[in-house]
Amino acid sequence: MAAAVPESPYALGRDPLETLRLEHQADELEAQTITLLDRAGFVSSGAAVDLGCGPAGALRLLSERVGSSGRVIGVDIDPVHVSQARVYVLGRGLTNVEVIEASASGTGLAAGAFDVVHARALLVNLPDPAAVVSEMARLAKPGGHVLVQEPDAGGRLCYPRCPAWDRLAELYVIAFQRDGADMCIGRRLPTLLRGADLDVLGVEVRADLTPPRHTRRTIFPDLARSLHPTIVALGLTDQAELDELDRSVRAHLDNPDVLVLPHLFFLAWAKTSPTSSRPQ
Ligand SMILES: C[S@@+](CC[C@H](N)C(=O)[O-])C[C@H]1O[C@@H](n2cnc3c(N)ncnc32)[C@H](O)[C@@H]1O
Repeated sequence: MAAAVPESPYALGRDPLETLRLEHQADELEAQTITLLDRAGFVSSGAAVDLGCGPAGALRLLSERVGSSGRVIGVDIDPVHVSQARVYVLGRGLTNVEVIEASASGTGLAAGAFDVVHARALLVNLPDPAAVVSEMARLAKPGGHVLVQEPDAGGRLCYPRCPAWDRLAELYVIAFQRDGADMCIGRRLPTLLRGADLDVLGVEVRADLTPPRHTRRTIFPDLARSLHPTIVALGLTDQAELDELDRSVRAHLDNPDVLVLPHLFFLAWAKTSPTSSRPQ
């Protein structure tokens, strides 16, 4: 009989390596987050919220943008990530940031209170992303920004092909999507935003190759490693095969001639109507 799937509110779990990956990710995705804030025309001041902030998320960036007179709320459902985010905030002296434990689909925060409502790599994990987008729309002030960045695994590419990569991808997809999450959520962002009565102002897709020595070169095997316990618990294979796949994929990626595109990343920015009145 397969072992129980490890309990965590987050599909990739909270193994220390996954936490470290999320901390690095906050730095790695900073440039595209700045792009998104700039595209949306969000300059400074006011209140911002980062849903599913993880151990760092966009908290520092938003803290800088709103300035000392503004405030930022980080929200995460996982108490371990909340504690880590609080340590991060304290360690960087981000005095205008508070982190709370709540579900992104029902934060309990006041309606219409935020100039910017942001989420990154959150919806991809969830079986009901529309519920979160609807909460994002509720939290934004009339005329406020709703900003979302989500990956889309449909564009994943490794060339020349590697059988171990293909096999790992097959296992990864089953395990990641076991509860109804959609790894190709990126392309759905405009539809999701419009479905929450938001005015979609722009959508952009990033297709960043990860050349040798790029910090995200091994993001796919790194993500897969966070899912190893789930893959084994689901009875899809054993740890020995996963270790071998991990070794083979990493060896393949060591070859500087191999081209790697781990996923596409969709950035979308929208606004609530300046006169919107939404349910409290
Ligand atoms: C892939 S991480 C992204 C972290 C951060 N946004 C970033 O881009 O670095 C997803 C985060 O969403 C959190 N999360 C998952 N489901 C959630 C939910 N329903 N409500 C709030 N947070 C959630 C997880 O605990 C995790 O910290």
